[in-house]
Amino acid sequence: MTQVKGKKVYLGTNTKMYKGVADTASYLEELCRLTGDLSREALELFVIPSFTALESARRCAPRELVRLGGQNMGWAGEGPYTGEISPKMLLEVGADIAELGHSERRHVLGETDEMVNRKVLCAAEYGLTALLCIGETAEEKARGLADEVLRTQLKAGLYGLGAGGAERLWVAYEPVWAIGEHGVPATKEYAEARHDTIRRTLTELYGEQAGQAVPLLYGGSVNPDNAVGLIRMENIDGLFIGRSAWDARKFNAIIRDVLAAADG
Ligand code: 13P
Repeated sequence: MTQVKGKKVYLGTNTKMYKGVADTASYLEELCRLTGDLSREALELFVIPSFTALESARRCAPRELVRLGGQNMGWAGEGPYTGEISPKMLLEVGADIAELGHSERRHVLGETDEMVNRKVLCAAEYGLTALLCIGETAEEKARGLADEVLRTQLKAGLYGLGAGGAERLWVAYEPVWAIGEHGVPATKEYAEARHDTIRRTLTELYGEQAGQAVPLLYGGSVNPDNAVGLIRMENIDGLFIGRSAWDARKFNAIIRDVLAAADG
């Protein structure tokens, strides 16, 4: 497990169902002000707010500083899908990332691998970055099934996605047991071992070069104490953060620590 120096890091947050229009706007304004001096060459900063906040979020945060995404996306450009948001709608408001298959959608709202797969293919068709979230439950971990679950979620979620689509793919490893208030963060060694499985599966699917190029992010109780250790792992290219990023000052501190660590 070697430390990789000088790698580009992907740091972002999903604000879940917490911040409305006004809170998102003030959060983004502060985040842009605090991080405006940091070169984006080595940093891909992204925020995934609620749908209702996206349009004003884009006005508050220039794309050169922060990319925006939707927390979910329907699987067609348009159609009779009441309640869904299409890739065209996301692009129209300046969001070009689609977060797909988050554990809260899989395990609370019943989303299946097949549904996630349709969304991944649709995101690729419309040129969005698909941020595919995968992760095992506590029970699957206890039974020694974590790697099998990850391989299945990847192969099912990416079924039919060609090399072109894989160029815009990001994968977030978010063990279900690590996420949220009652979550326990994965150790850096455990996370790296799972990322290694994900990396191997991607190189199996897309070849060595393309598989290595897919950014792999860890998420689940990332905090100011564990962020640096995680980012130093060979196959961890980024961090997908919830609670610890929802205060712009706290997130800014993590971003600076992580950038310093990734730079060696
Ligand atoms: P927490 O960092 O709050 O555990 O949330 C992680 C997450 O769900 C990111 O999508």
